[in-house]
Amino acid sequence: MTLTVVAPGRVNLIGEHTDSSGGLVLPLAIDLATTITGTRGGDRIVLTSATEAEPAIVPLAVDDPAALSGWARYVAGVVAEMAPTVGFTGTVTTTLPVGAGLSSSAALEVGVALALGFGGTVVELAELTQRAEQRASGVPCGVMDQLASAGGVEGHALLIDCHALEITPIAIPDGVEIRVIHSGQHRELAASAYAERTASVAAAEAVLGPLRLLVDPASADALADPVLRRRARHVISENQRVSDVAAALPAGDLQAVGRAMAASHASLRDDFEVSTDVLDALVDRLAATPGVIGARLTGAGFGGCVVALTRPGALDEGWLVRATGGARVDLA
Ligand code: GLA
Repeated sequence: MTLTVVAPGRVNLIGEHTDSSGGLVLPLAIDLATTITGTRGGDRIVLTSATEAEPAIVPLAVDDPAALSGWARYVAGVVAEMAPTVGFTGTVTTTLPVGAGLSSSAALEVGVALALGFGGTVVELAELTQRAEQRASGVPCGVMDQLASAGGVEGHALLIDCHALEITPIAIPDGVEIRVIHSGQHRELAASAYAERTASVAAAEAVLGPLRLLVDPASADALADPVLRRRARHVISENQRVSDVAAALPAGDLQAVGRAMAASHASLRDDFEVSTDVLDALVDRLAATPGVIGARLTGAGFGGCVVALTRPGALDEGWLVRATGGARVDLA
């Protein structure tokens, strides 16, 4: 029996670098996706992709996914976490730009888990594939990307409480478009800097307690280290901005959404220090374009993409994306 799995990428509207400390995020699954077609059977996983030079060939028993090369390590991460008893042979195609910050690796992991027969809940699927990503990449990523790919809702962004792991769909109003524009800058140093930022947030929490429980960014002033103070101030203020946008979006208060997106970018630039000159210039140019409601870097930063919320037709660059349902399996 041939099966086809479609797993979407994601773009984050707001809520950056908040998931690792159990905060709030507001991503959407997008209509750019990875598709896996094949059959279960055999004693290894064999996936070929027209865009990858080498196939991913992974045995059913994997100790160290990171030891595999290229994209096979993400497949191996899922296999290591799932320990399937039966293999899979198939092909992978994708409309997602790989390595651009639209969660192509999360889409692959979620897709592979479903292809291998994962039968748990959306949250269990996201947690398993988050662990797979961490083992494959060595980056202590949060759960946002995998949860957005697994749990997308058509026409909605997902307000995710990353502590409770609860998803509240937030309707995206008519009359707006979401565009994703690549800065042209490859995400350099993203892995090591991501781990360093996560460690800083943990260090701030060791003094202040869970940042997700704090509402006043001035709480961060209790930290002696000025760098930790800035990092904590970003996380506390960003959680509040996610709440604000989740309320303003369905109410059609687009000015408030735009203000929060601008403040988010400024906070990522000045307090969390994960932006770049190239991203800043792109955000400034887009924000000054008539019909653009808001623009900010999206994803981990250090290059990659900007997300813009616009009036219809305001921009014609980048990808016009729509909020789509989560990963699904079709049996032929
Ligand atoms: C990457 C990680 C996510 C999240 C974002 C930043 O995409 O995989 O878990 O932390 O960066 O918001």
